Amino acid sequence: MTNTDAAAAPTSNVTGASIHLDGVVKRYPGTDKPAVERLDLGIEAGHIVAFVGPSGCGKTTTLKMINRLIEPSDGRILIDGRDVTKGDPDKLRQGIGYVIQSAGLFPHWTVSKNIGAIPRVLGWDKKRIAERTEYLLDLVGLDPGVFAERLPKDMSGGQQQRVGVARALAADPPVMLMDEPFGAVDPITRVRLQDSLINIQAELGKTICIVTHDFEEATKLGDKVLILSEGGHVEQYAAPEEILANPATPFVEEFIGSGATLAQLTLLRVRDIDYDSVVTATVGERTTAVLERAHAAGATWVVVVDEQGLPLSWPSVDEIAIRDEIADYVDNRLPRVAQTSTLNDALDSMLATSQGGTLVTDGRGAAIGSLTIQSVMDVIKGQLEVARTDKQETYVEHATGPIPVVPADPESSVDG
Ligand SMILES: Nc1ncnc2c1ncn2[C@@H]1O[C@H](COP(=O)(O)OP(=O)(O)OP(=O)(O)O)[C@@H](O)[C@H]1O
Ligand SMILES: [Mg+2]
Repeated sequence: MTNTDAAAAPTSNVTGASIHLDGVVKRYPGTDKPAVERLDLGIEAGHIVAFVGPSGCGKTTTLKMINRLIEPSDGRILIDGRDVTKGDPDKLRQGIGYVIQSAGLFPHWTVSKNIGAIPRVLGWDKKRIAERTEYLLDLVGLDPGVFAERLPKDMSGGQQQRVGVARALAADPPVMLMDEPFGAVDPITRVRLQDSLINIQAELGKTICIVTHDFEEATKLGDKVLILSEGGHVEQYAAPEEILANPATPFVEEFIGSGATLAQLTLLRVRDIDYDSVVTATVGERTTAVLERAHAAGATWVVVVDEQGLPLSWPSVDEIAIRDEIADYVDNRLPRVAQTSTLNDALDSMLATSQGGTLVTDGRGAAIGSLTIQSVMDVIKGQLEVARTDKQETYVEHATGPIPVVPADPESSVDG
């Protein structure tokens, strides 16, 4: 069982920078105990680190000290070995993408204007900004032709969140800070956003710090998980497998609680198990040819795909046999999961669409296989037998706290 390849410390294309916190302290004025007592932390370039811990333990404070939205009271922060606690904080923030829970888009700006905010400040020319915007919208899975000129209010929460990620990536920063970025979206959209983040990470090799209150999300996304307790105290900082296998302190044990069994499952990805191959058919193709392929493969149904290979529907051979050509019917309830999805995600997708199976897609969303609920259940059952079931304490969900208001959003200082 490996998760390491997931956020697969992309060795070939690391564009991220290392981050080091060296004795970092934050004392808020008028408080007797520091919010962060003394934090030492090293994050490797190109890694994703997930920050978890109970409400008020200092996750947001720590994140915001890295881009100096909050100034540390003491200690040093090094990015790529350079002390960033001195110097111009605006300059610093131009090199650090920042995403918050509510996406934090400027409501009166179109999507493309939002994404171009930092590049404009950096003086990029119009053409370069336009190209970059198109590339990024594509990267986060939004059709530029459809969304570039929309206002945030005319988009779903998940779509806005994607724009938030695109905007944070706009100036190609080596570091991305994300504070509960997927907290406000529904579970299915959340899984899609997580999967796109994993793909983006694999492609771009950024260094990403992501705060989440969901331990399962942390194990899915993090190369390493940082578990904090009150005062920004490090309880454990290790790979998810390591934390699950050897919780370092009673605090960690209690924190992961019975969520641990579930989290074990998140270490298993769709691509780690044998999924079935599928017969694809293109819209407009002659039915006889498709039926021949289906027969040869022993398939009782096929996946209809568009020119890009993106799945539209999955009719049975009987359903397609009544027409001469493959129809362009779009099944809005078609379940699909990415290869990078966890088995939990796959199960969720099937349950949400009340289907006994799901399509498997690659990073671009093209259909590459299928998975039945039975095969997933079999693997999960095997896992559950292996997992120690003696830890049945209830997993206490901690409050997420109020949605952070971020007056000092990097762009707002440059927006004027
Ligand atoms: N501006 C402030 N002034 C005084 N105390 C603050 C301020 N901001 C945060 N704190 C305190 O610092 C501590 C850490 O807060 P922080 O926002 O970093 O927690 P968190 O781990 O992000 O919590 P959550 O999961 O609820 O978002 C808390 O006790 C909080 O009350
Ligand atoms: Mg917070």
